[in-house]
Amino acid sequence: IPSPTPADKFSFGLWTVGWQARDPFGDATRAPMDPVYALERLAAIGAYGVNFHDDDLIPFGADDAVRDGIIERFKKGLADTGLVVTTATTNLFTHPVFKDGGLTSNSRDVRRYALRKVMRNLDLAAELGAKVYVMWGGREGAEYGAAKDVPAALDRYQEAFNVLGDYVVDRGYDLKFAIEPKPNEPRGDILLPTVGHALAFIETLDRPELVGVNPEIGHEEMAGLNAAAGYAQALWQGKLFHIDLNGQNGPKYDQDLRFGAGNVRGAFWVVDTLVTGGYDGPVHFDYKPVRPETDAGVWVSAKACMDNYLILREKVKAFRADPEVQAALAEAGLPDLAVPTLEAEEGWRGLLEWELPDVDALAAREVAMEKLDQLALEHLYGVR
Ligand code: GCO
Ligand code: MN
Ligand code: MN
Ligand code: MN
Repeated sequence: IPSPTPADKFSFGLWTVGWQARDPFGDATRAPMDPVYALERLAAIGAYGVNFHDDDLIPFGADDAVRDGIIERFKKGLADTGLVVTTATTNLFTHPVFKDGGLTSNSRDVRRYALRKVMRNLDLAAELGAKVYVMWGGREGAEYGAAKDVPAALDRYQEAFNVLGDYVVDRGYDLKFAIEPKPNEPRGDILLPTVGHALAFIETLDRPELVGVNPEIGHEEMAGLNAAAGYAQALWQGKLFHIDLNGQNGPKYDQDLRFGAGNVRGAFWVVDTLVTGGYDGPVHFDYKPVRPETDAGVWVSAKACMDNYLILREKVKAFRADPEVQAALAEAGLPDLAVPTLEAEEGWRGLLEWELPDVDALAAREVAMEKLDQLALEHLYGVR
């Protein structure tokens, strides 16, 4: 396999490699990671970019002098390593003030505070050259029915996006937003739980063109959905502004495994969707090195995310270039699917003129779907 290079545009969140592996049942197993150390190690393994929540870089509550010092040191780290800040995001979930949500908390003061926290980090994101601002609403939701008025909460969510859209436009920032859906965890049920919910919500905003999605493989799979199909629809709608790649084994807690672990076959189709669909943004990994690992294992897993992407990218290209696959695609009817159902100008009136086909013959037509999928598996299994 080729080695990862910055041209591959691989990026990592500071919260991924820097995760201290605290879980609901146990304390941290790893020490806090210095962000500049993270930059150095990421650059050394061939990454291109980095991203962060405000609080990953600047501890919550730090005073201005401390904050400025951290930012200066981080900028120097970026300059020294050549890493690019691809996105940034806001931590609206750790501090207890966000126990009932940030932008959709029942408390108006919490919502106003949350907006200020986002605005402050938008300033930093713009200053550092990020092009996308991720909005993951982990605490925006509820555990019990009557505890949240969902239509009212969606009104407030919509209001928040409209205000933040005004903010980036008025400030002249070259930034777009990407909503990251997730069905549950940490809340029992989270608002905008899937790519489809987010895409529908975006169309209700004042500036829908400023907002897209950041689908995470594991989150779609937690909802029992086919992640590749979600990425495909987002691409089709021009809304795939960013991606969070990782691994998940079925509908259970958010595993955030390294990319390529978990549902391997699903990962193959995600890469196929991104490559054939022409996604050209950063290839971002949002995963958590498993809790038993030390720092050494953190960097093994980070490199593995990139390697697995490159392995799957080679396999996907070989699959698409294989003459047997192309023949099976034709047999399965894919070229026909690309043809509009009606002739130009035909309309329903013209369709009424069309002589009806032999439906029994159509029902009995051959397809090659098993053959096609087996060819994909043989490419994935490495025997082709
Ligand atoms: C998760 C989410 C988060 C978000 C991140 C960005 O695993 O639940 O992926 O990690 O991506 O917080 O806001
Ligand atoms: Mn996740
Ligand atoms: Mn994510
Ligand atoms: Mn995550």
